[in-house]
Amino acid sequence: MENNRPEWSSHLSFIVATVGSAVGLGNIWRFPYIMGKNGGAVFLITYILLIAFICIIPLCSELGLGKLYKKDVINTFKSIKPKYAWIGWLCIITVTLIPCFYFVVGGWILNYIWVFLTGNTAHNYADYFNSFSSQIYMPCFLTILFLLMTAIFPFRGVNSGIEKANNLMMPLFVIMLLILAGFALTLPGAKEGLAFMFKPDFSQFNKTMILTALGQALFTLSIGMGTILTYGSYMKENTNIVKSAYTLILCDTFIAVSAGIMIFPIVFSFGTEPSAGVSLAFISMPQMFAQLPCASLFGLIFFVLLFFASITSGISMLETTVSAFIDNLKISRKKATVLTVFIISLISIPASLSFGVLKYFKIFDKTVFDLLDYSTSNIFLPFNTLIICLITGWCIPQFWKKVFGEGFIGGLFNILLKFIVPIILIFVLITGI
Ligand code: TRP
Repeated sequence: MENNRPEWSSHLSFIVATVGSAVGLGNIWRFPYIMGKNGGAVFLITYILLIAFICIIPLCSELGLGKLYKKDVINTFKSIKPKYAWIGWLCIITVTLIPCFYFVVGGWILNYIWVFLTGNTAHNYADYFNSFSSQIYMPCFLTILFLLMTAIFPFRGVNSGIEKANNLMMPLFVIMLLILAGFALTLPGAKEGLAFMFKPDFSQFNKTMILTALGQALFTLSIGMGTILTYGSYMKENTNIVKSAYTLILCDTFIAVSAGIMIFPIVFSFGTEPSAGVSLAFISMPQMFAQLPCASLFGLIFFVLLFFASITSGISMLETTVSAFIDNLKISRKKATVLTVFIISLISIPASLSFGVLKYFKIFDKTVFDLLDYSTSNIFLPFNTLIICLITGWCIPQFWKKVFGEGFIGGLFNILLKFIVPIILIFVLITGI
């Protein structure tokens, strides 16, 4: 079976695909507003330190597991010890639940692309968004449409589907982001926006902010779900893991910061709250675009950009499940994709309806959408990451030597992997719950 395992056709394709997975709504939509809420520059500095010294460890662990075992996530843990298979299943559950809410947002993005494409722009986006997202049929239909558009690529396979999609969409994505960021810098609020991002206000430094930064860093790297492990299992034999991991982190952070440079000058030019939350992308941004010359054009670029970011992440979520289904249920890639799509559509429909008819249907005091978002990001993600660190640190002999090498850095990373990162993750988990 191993001989049939696909392989990225080049190192660059591997990096582009992992960056495509990591860069998603988390960078463009979540990062700027979380940074806005948590004091701008101080948050940015904390975030960079955490991602470079802490999150790098589980990232390398997942890549290392992929490279060493070359299997899907369930068989990887089975190979370490048969009784660890449940960890693989847990990752699969998590990575199947994430698209159930993520793709609802994907459906909204499709709707906004349509709005700006046809020039049917609204006057008041707050009213528009609320009335649109609370409908029954259209949001569900668009969620499923987004799911199907994403599923085409894993359906076609690693080289002719996933790799091609990323190699096409990621460069376009970066170009559009730089165009919008460049344009934002010409606006009157640019200076204020940049000061907000880059001038530290140390009074904002506190425990909650650190935990938020860590949670965001873990989420944006797509770790804790076996996705990076799966993409890593297609890597070429001679790939250097630590170098690839730092390249990934560098690209991801560059894109998140560029997204901030795109958003904050616009926010400050029009006097909106930088911490506007979910509504930032779907209410404030379109509202502000509407006041610019060429409103439809900028709006369209912004939402196509969000579309590319979310679809390349979506592809990696689906591929993790598809790859596990192929190897564990012994079915073809095409059947595995259909099964994955079926499961996700069942759960994503109530998630989509939680903005309308199911608004008051609550589990643990949360709507279906919020429950999926909260439990995957705050509970499953840190928990799975913790287990992955413990297994790679303590249960696989010589793992760190194979992945980090032996020198000073290798030794330091070994200590981080075995002690420091697990302790931090336990702390994150406790506060998350
Ligand atoms: N990293 C993605 C983003 O920033 C979100 C994400 C979280 C993800 N977990 C994932 C993507 C697992 C793919 C697979 O938007």
